[in-house]
Amino acid sequence: MMRIGFLASHNGSNAQAIIDACESGELPAQPVVAVSNNGAAAVLERARRHGIPSYHLSAKTAGSEDALDREMLRLLRAHGVSLLVLAGYMRKVGPATVAAFEGRIVNIHPALLPKFGGQGMYGIRVHEAVLQAGEAETGITIHLADGEYDRGRILAQCRVPVEAGDTPETLAARVLNREHRFYVETLAKIASGEIELPALTEAA
Ligand code: GRF
Repeated sequence: MMRIGFLASHNGSNAQAIIDACESGELPAQPVVAVSNNGAAAVLERARRHGIPSYHLSAKTAGSEDALDREMLRLLRAHGVSLLVLAGYMRKVGPATVAAFEGRIVNIHPALLPKFGGQGMYGIRVHEAVLQAGEAETGITIHLADGEYDRGRILAQCRVPVEAGDTPETLAARVLNREHRFYVETLAKIASGEIELPALTEAA
């Protein structure tokens, strides 16, 4: 069974949807750990409520970027993580962790990459840019993550309409609402092998 480790920085509504789907049996996976760079992130409390070990870990708490990377990898291995799920994680994943989990780190982005991605393209800014560009539709991209922002093989995309009178906020809400189902559906395809990921390169 897939053992999911979450990295998230804020609310964690995507992590919540995934945890719920694991508990209901819809998603044959087990959430085993949640890590946040933000000690006040709601995602940590959400995970705790479900008995999932949660950790606040950042370059500040670890002492340096390098120590963060090493400590992150140690934690993920200690919990036997086999799939790293980024759900609103606002940091790059360190090189040792990326190498150990190569091809097994997934991220969700609230737009149709490759447009509207990259450094600084997060949160409400994504939806502002989509409206600014006059796009008729936006969407969601789930992709493999590496040490850069919003790069890596696209695993799945879904479209979400832009509606007349949309503000960045209304568009953000429509996209986020769709993300929850879409992340669960895509992870289910990974679990079933319909979307094929490489095996872990090293024993976790
Ligand atoms: C989502 O919009 C996701 O696409 C982006 O960060 C947001 C996280 O929301 N990467 P939440 O913390 O899961 O509620």
